[in-house]
Amino acid sequence: MTRFVSSSPDSRLLPFPWDTPLADWPVKLLVALPRGLSRHVVRFVQVGDSVYAAKEVVEHLALHEYRLLTDLHRLDTPSVEPIGIITERRDASGTPLDPILLTRHLEFSLPYRSLFSPGVRQETVSRLLDAMVVLIARLHLIGFKWGDVSLSNILFRRDAGAFAAYLVDAETGELHDHLSDGQREQDLEIARTNLFGDFLDLQAGGLLQPPLEPLTLVDMILTRYQELWEELTGVEEFSGSEMGRIEGRVRRLNALGFDVAEMDIRTDDGSSRIRIQPKVVDAGHHQRRLMRLTGLDTEENQARRLLNDLDTYRFRTGQAHVDEAVVAHKWLTEVFEPVMQEVPEALRAKREPAQLFHELLDYRWYKSQREHRDVPIVEAAKGYVRDVLEGLPDEALNREALLPVVESAKLVNPYDPSQGYVVEGEEPPHDPWEDGVEDVPEPSGYLDIAALRAKAAAQAS
Ligand SMILES: Nc1ncnc2c1ncn2[C@@H]1O[C@H](COP(=O)(O)OP(=O)(O)O)[C@@H](O)[C@H]1O
Ligand SMILES: [Mg+2]
Repeated sequence: MTRFVSSSPDSRLLPFPWDTPLADWPVKLLVALPRGLSRHVVRFVQVGDSVYAAKEVVEHLALHEYRLLTDLHRLDTPSVEPIGIITERRDASGTPLDPILLTRHLEFSLPYRSLFSPGVRQETVSRLLDAMVVLIARLHLIGFKWGDVSLSNILFRRDAGAFAAYLVDAETGELHDHLSDGQREQDLEIARTNLFGDFLDLQAGGLLQPPLEPLTLVDMILTRYQELWEELTGVEEFSGSEMGRIEGRVRRLNALGFDVAEMDIRTDDGSSRIRIQPKVVDAGHHQRRLMRLTGLDTEENQARRLLNDLDTYRFRTGQAHVDEAVVAHKWLTEVFEPVMQEVPEALRAKREPAQLFHELLDYRWYKSQREHRDVPIVEAAKGYVRDVLEGLPDEALNREALLPVVESAKLVNPYDPSQGYVVEGEEPPHDPWEDGVEDVPEPSGYLDIAALRAKAAAQAS
């Protein structure tokens, strides 16, 4: 008797031939999509409108991976989504078969072999490595020791101008409350060995050409990881006259794609030295926290900036031990509202309050940098109104003016808006990453990247 383990059972899975080894499934049930190297038999199947990845694997590993992927998903970590496990399979003669782990196919994701092609640009590789480093650091931050970092266990997707990396294989993973430096070191040691092998393999296949070289690439990954980790978790110490450094740290982390929940700011008794250590968190956190503390309903990035200002205010005014809700109320009445009062009635339609405050913080940051002093917020507000706000068109008008342009323009790739619009008479830049689709076996037309691109090209011409 076949058994389904899943948090949301799906009756469409019942008709599949669970009594047949995955390797022998009829081709008509399978979807041809690019795939990385694997130890186990992995196939893609179509279930309704979705495509699932099926992996045949021994029971304790299947259960372990299913549970870990569920945890990673709950923690908002970039990883594939678990669907369920099919256990207690037997073939026609009654011989037991290994369970099958189902995960949702990560749409438009590509394994590394599709990304590396002869003549791949160094910049593309560099962006891939960055995405990988960010993924490893994110996993380590939540206490996940991967145990098997390798190119085949990572999937890549485009993310605006960059790449985003996802974990695809959690079989060897362990989730702890916190990773020690030793545990992280072990994970990095495995990464070094595996990645070096993966790059050697690419080189042997002629896909990696000078100046790209296995040892350099591996060293680059590890160096960048150390830099990122230091930026994410390192303690910074400075004197009380360098307050801008708190905001500087936050800006650097934001630029790296991380959100800062709180700053642990301490002063040594009797000295003017300040120590800061950021706490990095998941998205959506700031919106909720700002709403709870101040009732302001904002976008995530705006909320982050406002909260960072609130945290800095808390420290500046010596209220580190006061309840944060109390401080938030004070910040609203002593900082946020006085700033809003600086904005003349006639100019208020130009920016939403949270956006205005966010731009004002930028304005103050640059002014403080230029003038080597901490510019007070109300002074900055007056300057911002005069130098910036007065010259801006109304937001509402602005949006209307933009609309027809966007509607008439044609996307370079309708499946990837991040590539922007077609400019008449201009060849789109050539990106070898886009070429890496040749090794897709027999396009099925469904969710197949090469086929979708071909369709889009046909429609466009
Ligand atoms: N949910 C998924 N979405 C996209 N690709 C997947 C998915 N699951 C597996 N794959 C592809 O299959 C390959 C092998 O899967 P993996 O879980 O790493 O198997 P193994 O445990 O045998 O190494 C991956 O490299 C990836 O390319
Ligand atoms: Mg794998």
